[in-house]
Amino acid sequence: AKHLGDDLTVVLHTEEELRARLAELAREIERDYSDEPPLLVGVLKGAVMVMADLARELNFHAQMDWMAVSSYGVGTKSSGVVKILKDLDADITGRDVLIVEDIIDSGLTLSWLKENLESRGAKSVRICTMLRKPEALKVEVDVAYVGFDIPVEFVVGYGLDYAEDYRNLRDVAILAPHVYSGE
Ligand code: PRP
Ligand code: MN
Ligand code: MG
Repeated sequence: AKHLGDDLTVVLHTEEELRARLAELAREIERDYSDEPPLLVGVLKGAVMVMADLARELNFHAQMDWMAVSSYGVGTKSSGVVKILKDLDADITGRDVLIVEDIIDSGLTLSWLKENLESRGAKSVRICTMLRKPEALKVEVDVAYVGFDIPVEFVVGYGLDYAEDYRNLRDVAILAPHVYSGE
């Protein structure tokens, strides 16, 4: 079978770098929520790895809830129109919510989601993302915690997929263009 590391060009961030940066973010989050822990809301499926690592890094009771959303509309790229495929189990009225994401690309998913959760009467809604592509942003998103800003490249690993593969790669790496250039 094909090895997981085939078809990658550059490792952008190793597993160790990701964990170390996440530990720094966790210390900030602990400080910022010293009164009451937030509800961690992960966005399936990409956020699974960062949620698992962040939640275990935090020194307070970290309740987790999950949403699944899909952007649809014209083309394969995010359109900003978002459909909820799986909603939260928790009622977030009056609660502090921390959205946990793997990556902010165009920002369309997160700007929609943040507004959606705020409209449910959450006390506060903040965003924590492992990665962000500042040069790909189409809308401004107020992000409280960012792991790393990265260039506009097709990256996979640490939850990020290409056609559902590579999510279990431990590092974040750039996918070789020949893999997706046929599309
Ligand atoms: C990816 C990623 C973010 C979103 C970012 O999810 O995990 O959730 O896209 O894109 P945006 O900033 O342009 O909106 P995807 O829709 O691929 O689903 P997945 O998490 O299941 O891979
Ligand atoms: Mn996602
Ligand atoms: Mg994806």
